[in-house]
Amino acid sequence: MHKENQNIDNSEPIGVFDSGIGGTSIWNEINLLLPSENSIYLADSKHAPYGIRSKEEIIRLSDKNTSLLLNKGCKIIVIACNTATTNAISYLRKKYDVPFIGIEPAIKPASLKTESKIIGILATKGTLSSSLFQETTNLYKQGIEIIEQEGTGIVELIENGKLDSEEMTLLLRSYVLPMVERGIDHLVLGCSHYPYLIPNLRKILPESITIIDSGYAVAIQTKAVLTQFNLLNKNSDAGQHQFYTNGTAEVLNLILGNRFTVLVKDF
Ligand code: DGL
Repeated sequence: MHKENQNIDNSEPIGVFDSGIGGTSIWNEINLLLPSENSIYLADSKHAPYGIRSKEEIIRLSDKNTSLLLNKGCKIIVIACNTATTNAISYLRKKYDVPFIGIEPAIKPASLKTESKIIGILATKGTLSSSLFQETTNLYKQGIEIIEQEGTGIVELIENGKLDSEEMTLLLRSYVLPMVERGIDHLVLGCSHYPYLIPNLRKILPESITIIDSGYAVAIQTKAVLTQFNLLNKNSDAGQHQFYTNGTAEVLNLILGNRFTVLVKDF
């Protein structure tokens, strides 16, 4: 557990990383809930997708991102990536003495709310095959069928700015319509890139199917942990934000609505 440290400057930024631009969906929720917090976001787009990599590679990349953020003075690290969380968070927590917030697929709320007792989850191969995901799923699957679907190719299309392409529509239909046929009433989005697909998915899915993602829960947890460790920024001005990518600035700018300066660096 992180030691309470009176010497940490509360105005230091929250560090957020993802394999690319998807974690900005989590960053948005944090920024909405905690508008006075400063932040640094790392989009490791050069190494996306993480979801097809080995656990060792995901740990190595997550470690590199964490170390960069800590060198920039971050007071807490938000792993805005399900794949990195499910494969690397326990390693990172052992190695570094700062609080870590992770994101995991929202299996629990979906399994508590389902009436058809069939839920679907769309996530990366890396998340679905992780032991953390399997352990969580085992806790909630009594009497419930959980249909797992790998979202192969989706992250690549988003990273290439093809959110609204015909290719994306075809891919999404091929992944979610079989789950609809099997009677799901909840679809869990188990990857931080996927909330950007909600408008696309709403056009494909029947209205009766609820889409669940974990972004708001991560923001709530971030606030709780900052409060617990007395790390909330005492300055109430609007936070300052830095966005770094090792890919191209274009797609990150697009997804952020051109509201911030995006710095392109090799990391
Ligand atoms: N945003 C990452 C996640 O939440 C995408 C993983 C990937 O790069 O494959 O899992």
